[in-house]
Amino acid sequence: MSNFFRNELQNLKNIDLYRKLRLVEGGQGSCVSMNGKKVILLCSNNYLGLANHPSVKKAANKAIKEFGCGSGASRLISGTMTLHSELEKKIAHFKNTNSALIFNSGYHANIGMLSALMKKKDIVFCDELNHASIIDGCRLSGAETTIYPHKNMDALERHLKKSNGYKKKLIVTDGVFSMDGDIAPLADIVFLAKKYSAFTMVDDAHATGVFGKKGKGTAEHFNLSSNEIDIQMGTFGKALGSFGAYIAGNNELIDYLINRARPFIYTTALPPAVLAASLAAIEMIQSKPDLRKKLWENVDYFKKELQKKGFKNFGSQSQIIPIIIGNSKKVVMASEYLFNKGVFVAGIRPPAVSRKKEMLRITIISSHTRKDLDYALDALLKMKEKFLDYRP
Ligand SMILES: Cc1ncc(COP(=O)(O)O)c(C=O)c1O
Repeated sequence: MSNFFRNELQNLKNIDLYRKLRLVEGGQGSCVSMNGKKVILLCSNNYLGLANHPSVKKAANKAIKEFGCGSGASRLISGTMTLHSELEKKIAHFKNTNSALIFNSGYHANIGMLSALMKKKDIVFCDELNHASIIDGCRLSGAETTIYPHKNMDALERHLKKSNGYKKKLIVTDGVFSMDGDIAPLADIVFLAKKYSAFTMVDDAHATGVFGKKGKGTAEHFNLSSNEIDIQMGTFGKALGSFGAYIAGNNELIDYLINRARPFIYTTALPPAVLAASLAAIEMIQSKPDLRKKLWENVDYFKKELQKKGFKNFGSQSQIIPIIIGNSKKVVMASEYLFNKGVFVAGIRPPAVSRKKEMLRITIISSHTRKDLDYALDALLKMKEKFLDYRP
């Protein structure tokens, strides 16, 4: 048995795909202490700095005092706590939908949603760069899955044209793509879905709280009304600084999920502190648009400076900025090099991205100061000279 693990781990090391965890000492912020070293954190999804915000922490503490630590069981077994219900009402209002359902994570929401809705005689159309949880949900559903080239609407339409024999059709896409940081052509997807009678589902994990005038996500960004997209998924663990996820949609969809989504039915519900933190975070998103403004100022500044330093074609339309290194060994070395210089950006390798797309996935957050960003830009320039420009 132990040989199995040893051999497998050695195989991963041999192909530069071995991963190890790093210890963060203290809370999440724009800078963190790792292995005793203070570093600028340039790869967190805590986009608005809410994970360690005093108002969010206060709400979580208060909920523990009032409701305790655990939720006791799944909601169909021991009941829904008032905070679950409050958060679902708040999300439905925030997303302008009739209803919403909380899941324990974005991963649960995607596999739960897709496997509950789509069955053997159905077909899912899935962008090739959709998140792994969507891919896993498609696999679990047993439906036919057609992967279309990234954001290629002509290819999607060609596939849709050939899909007459299926019972249900669904087009599913990330709103903001988690590695490349570009945005799905949601209005075109909605148009095609109407034309070919398909359901639509958008995963707004990286858009919730960040995209749209009021932070409501990619539907708001594209001025689409909520009833034009059948299923809107989003997470609490990224810009909202908490944990968990939601599906927002009409009453029947939510009622169906309560009855059919196994990752909702067969798991203990989220605990009070987490729910209260999410509630406080949504309130902050609604009442403090400056958080979003600061994020976009940081993002604009960082991208302009990157361009001045000769980083080209990073293709990002969001707070996620990929720097393609294109080789697993090199990306680990580049990440280590930056860490030694006081900047932490994880190297992303297969299977999270395809071969030759190994990247440093930079994320900008609103609490980065100009000094943090300038320091990081300087370190990135040195990294570029050493790992990208250098030709022996
Ligand atoms: C696009 C996308 N969807 C879903 C998830 C899963 O969300 P969670 O981390 O809440 O499980 C992630 C990231 O983790 C993601 O990037």
